[in-house]
Amino acid sequence: MAFFTHQVCRGLSSSAVRNVVIKHVTVIGSGQMGAGIAQIAASTGHSVTLVDTNDEILKKAVKGIEGNLKRVVKKKFADKPEAGEEFIQKALQNVSTSTDAASVVQASDLVVEAIVENLKIKQDLFGGLDKLAPAHTIFASNTSSLSITDIASSTNRLDRFAGLHFFNPVPVMKLVEVIGISATSQETLDCLLNFSKILGKTPVSCKDTPGFIVNRLLLPYIIEAVRMYERGHASKEDIDIAMKLGCGYPMGPLELADYVGLDTMKFIMDYWSAANPENPSFAQSELLNKLVAEGKFGKKTGEGFYKYK
Ligand code: NAI
Repeated sequence: MAFFTHQVCRGLSSSAVRNVVIKHVTVIGSGQMGAGIAQIAASTGHSVTLVDTNDEILKKAVKGIEGNLKRVVKKKFADKPEAGEEFIQKALQNVSTSTDAASVVQASDLVVEAIVENLKIKQDLFGGLDKLAPAHTIFASNTSSLSITDIASSTNRLDRFAGLHFFNPVPVMKLVEVIGISATSQETLDCLLNFSKILGKTPVSCKDTPGFIVNRLLLPYIIEAVRMYERGHASKEDIDIAMKLGCGYPMGPLELADYVGLDTMKFIMDYWSAANPENPSFAQSELLNKLVAEGKFGKKTGEGFYKYK
């Protein structure tokens, strides 16, 4: 993994993003996703400020990043321990932390939000930062299920607002979805596509449609498998075996549902079906509702479609 020179975003119009150099990235939310995004941005030579609600959480996140970097170095610098140590130190030097997004955003070229999946909280965050961030700063949300258009509506920088959807675990998963709303400028999209490549990812572009590309296809597929099981058309084991052996998928849909978390799946499906009641792909599943009501969320609670020790 190399340290890259920073990119210049060149566009054709006179948008504020033209010729923006992404040097400083503010990542808000230092949980699973935010810490991962901070790690790969810092590893690729960006100055990163990781923001969360308190220092305890931030300390834990930085410790996690350090541990992950050590694992990366073990693999990638197996026979060059000194270069590996230098890589870790350089990356860590690029990370600072703050509990006050307002004070760091003024120096940011890009703000990536990875906080709790709640529309109002995300809107409040971006609405406040919009008044403080420089004109050229791009705002991006890592939301999995919410509408980027709805989140962006609390700001006055719609042309510099987009979705930047990473996958878990961020340092490992190669894909990034770059989601444009109707007002997002081409310069902003180009900038985020290039930024994703500099991070070592493969970006794909998508409009602001529920679930973007991956989850829009994945969740209805999983829910259809739940409905098939619910109708008694096949056992859960046979549904999973069929999709593994018939399609070469590493996990069957019901195993995958347990892994994702049935509560998370229900949260997303409820939000989509409320916004698109006419779409049968998002219709409720009584079985999913029942399991969630019983606290059977999947792997994390020890039981979902399957039982876990
Ligand atoms: P998480 O719960 O691990 O981390 C969220 C972090 O945000 C916590 O550390 C929390 O203290 C912090 N936070 C909450 N409100 C805040 C605020 N107002 N200001 C600053 N920090 C705040 O959540 P996770 O899993 O990292 O998800 C974050 C976002 O990424 C969500 O929008 C989620 O939908 C999205 N996402 C999650 C994926 C996953 O597999 N977990 C995959 C792709 C996207």
